Amino acid sequence: MDFRGSHILSIDQFDRSDIEKLFSVADKLEPYASKEKITRVLEGAILGNMFFEPSTRTRISFGASFNLLGGNVREITEVGSSSLAKGESLADTAQVLSGYSDIIVMRHPENDSVQRFAEASRVPVINAGDGSNEHPSQALLDLYTIQKELSQNGKSIDGLRIALVGDLKYGRAVHSLCKILSLHDNVTMNLISPKELRIPSEIAELLASRGLNIKETENLEDGISEVDIIYVTRVQEERFKDKNDANKYRGLLSLNQSIYTANCEPNTVIMHPLPRDSRSDANELDSDLYENPNLAIFRQADNGVVIRMAIFALVLDIEEKIEETSRPVNWKVGLKD
Ligand code: NCD
Repeated sequence: MDFRGSHILSIDQFDRSDIEKLFSVADKLEPYASKEKITRVLEGAILGNMFFEPSTRTRISFGASFNLLGGNVREITEVGSSSLAKGESLADTAQVLSGYSDIIVMRHPENDSVQRFAEASRVPVINAGDGSNEHPSQALLDLYTIQKELSQNGKSIDGLRIALVGDLKYGRAVHSLCKILSLHDNVTMNLISPKELRIPSEIAELLASRGLNIKETENLEDGISEVDIIYVTRVQEERFKDKNDANKYRGLLSLNQSIYTANCEPNTVIMHPLPRDSRSDANELDSDLYENPNLAIFRQADNGVVIRMAIFALVLDIEEKIEETSRPVNWKVGLKD
């Protein structure tokens, strides 16, 4: 795809060469993300960071990524603080906000809302999650993490064996991740969820049509026994009409160190898009996994910055200009020993 000036709305826009390109830009941006070098390439540019649903990692990492490239960030963090609460249409909001911004990142609770917003926008729009539909930047950072973690064990994504655990029906991160994994060869996917929270049929059909080896089960121990990656997700309670229904599934598929030791191959990597539900009745990933070096959840979250920097660099077409404004960092802040 031609990234320049494009909206990034769905992982369907990407083929394998696009992913390789994005990852190679991300690798180049690593010294800027880790603050060994500074660039001001986006000086004067404004990101409209529009979040009409709760977010911690996605909002802050998109904002931090734009700042690290030298740009400024303007934010909306809830529907109540924007004119959508006064009945303004998404299209009008898009017309107005795209006059104030050079690029917009948007999260919204309705499926396809970001697509509708983008149609009326005069600047590129990046989907940061639309309802239960898609979360493309999360899939990109997840895949980048999978690649990095596997390469340490001498493996690649072709031939990957992965278990996806939890709310596969409403989890947009899972939906986008399934699609991006389906571009790879010889992938085995164990889909572990309660029957009612199975992956939507259109995604299951896509996976089957692309030749993935799929197994669906409700049994955690069975599904995690021969995989390279376990990807755990939260019950998306905000998508249930009746919250009591969501409560039925909380805690059904919790992973702890003893289940891991008894069932998993050595070096099975544990991932989660976060937030993990750590309430005692959920305990999706037990705190006793904290000592497990294969718990990659915070490395995964960290990778969000460099991947989102790479998305901005390609969409705003400044990738080649970064070095021109590059200089060393002359400060270092950390905790004292
Ligand atoms: C995910 C999301 O918002 O879809 N979180 C994230 O962006 N890292 C997953 C979730 O909320 O469960």
